[in-house]
Amino acid sequence: MKKTLIGGLIVAVMMLSGLKVQAQNKLVINADQGKTQISRHIYGHFSEHLGRCIYGGIWVGPDSDIENINGYRTDVFQALKNLDIPNLRWPGGCFADEYHWTDGIGPRSERPKMINTHWGGVTEDNSFGTHEFFGFVELLETEPYITGNVGSGSVEEMSKWVEYINFDGVSPMADLRKKNGREEPWQIKYWGVGNESWGCGGNMTPEYYANEYRRYATFARDYPGAKLYKIAGGANSTDYNWTEVLMQKIPLHMMDAMSLHYYTVPGSWGNKGSSTDFSKEEYLLTLQKAAFMDELLTRHETIMDKYDPRKRVKLIVDEWGTWYDVEPNTNPGFLYQQNTLRDAFVAAITLNTFNKHADRVHMANLAQTVNVLQALILTDEDKMLLTPTYHVFDLYKPHMDATLLPSYVESEMVEAGGTKIEALNVSSSLSEDGTVNISIANVDPEKAIDLDVFLHGTQAKDVSGRYLTATDLNSHNTFDETDVVSIKEFKDFEWAKDVLEVKVPAKSVVVLRVK
Ligand code: AHR
Repeated sequence: MKKTLIGGLIVAVMMLSGLKVQAQNKLVINADQGKTQISRHIYGHFSEHLGRCIYGGIWVGPDSDIENINGYRTDVFQALKNLDIPNLRWPGGCFADEYHWTDGIGPRSERPKMINTHWGGVTEDNSFGTHEFFGFVELLETEPYITGNVGSGSVEEMSKWVEYINFDGVSPMADLRKKNGREEPWQIKYWGVGNESWGCGGNMTPEYYANEYRRYATFARDYPGAKLYKIAGGANSTDYNWTEVLMQKIPLHMMDAMSLHYYTVPGSWGNKGSSTDFSKEEYLLTLQKAAFMDELLTRHETIMDKYDPRKRVKLIVDEWGTWYDVEPNTNPGFLYQQNTLRDAFVAAITLNTFNKHADRVHMANLAQTVNVLQALILTDEDKMLLTPTYHVFDLYKPHMDATLLPSYVESEMVEAGGTKIEALNVSSSLSEDGTVNISIANVDPEKAIDLDVFLHGTQAKDVSGRYLTATDLNSHNTFDETDVVSIKEFKDFEWAKDVLEVKVPAKSVVVLRVK
């Protein structure tokens, strides 16, 4: 538990003088001290050619019996539209480094097939390619983020893809795009140079990748009206050396950001644990691992600060989320897992953490949007459900593009087995219209927490709230019961003079808005 020195002294004096000391949970927010904008892109997503994310999850094709808009599932489109998703990363992941974009253009029936060697060895028929992806992001009115192939591609191939997508004029690739039915360039911004180049993207050393990055980035051209935001493939979790080498070897003006991948795995990679069947200790351990994101970001940022104190090069956590054993009787290469209230807490803690690091973290992408890992949405043929994770993104929408507010939280602890973590995890922001947004996760499975909120620097008093909870830690939605975990109105708060007293229910995520 964090305590200020003064707070600690007051407690000590009260104890010595025999006064009763109560365990107090408090949150202090300075609503007039915000400086940093929380980029909306922190609330971004990721869709890979993996399992049933694209095929069956997003794309069913225009001839499908499943209701669709030009081939995109109507239900999935509507759910994502409701979240106002700020961006979508594609086509991978590991798949990106074996994807040859020219296979995915032209008449669908004539496109060559390939083996998706990373994910289940299934045949990829390339029916979802560049035009289909851009059709979807245009429908959603969201920003595309493309990851180009460094591992098995070439500088020429990547360079031509950029020309195909972004060049407005007469050129071989722009002409080909027009021949394929698209007159205007898409003029995209976010461009990733490879994925996990330390692993599935080519097993490179950081020194080797840094050189490759310089070559590939040179020929990924900026065209008029389409300046690229170039993202170097960053570290795997705690590989701080990777960050150090890239910061040393890549001239800062050549990259806008560096990525970072971190997955929350309750067990080991060989035995990750079940998505729905877990003990209280495993639950807390999972959340402790999610909360590690704070230390992870701090350590990578410290290295980046050494080379780039003005924080020009941003961090993009373009893969994060829980990773469990796949659901029984599903293809191990499809990474299909259920999603419970525990996942909602992982999302809440991680998003709170990204908010706090908003001065360096520009974007983050949950892995993955539909049917893969910590998905927002699960589908089964024509059925669809929204996961608890989806609902956290819904609750947290007000933080997008709001100003991060400095805050201080004192929280009691929750413990099981050898694992002990703070019960409360919080972040707060200020919307343009003056509304203060406070997101609070109480991860204690049994105990509601009385929280005193001290809101300084604002006259706002009109409070509304929404929250997410369920009967059990492993409660989840199913295709037969889609509303087991869903958002409800929250009213358990009142002003006591200038203090907002909130009773945060056990195992809940609450978002308060104070106008
Ligand atoms: O998200 C699943 C996989 O995890 C991605 O393809 C890869 O980049 C990472 O290892």
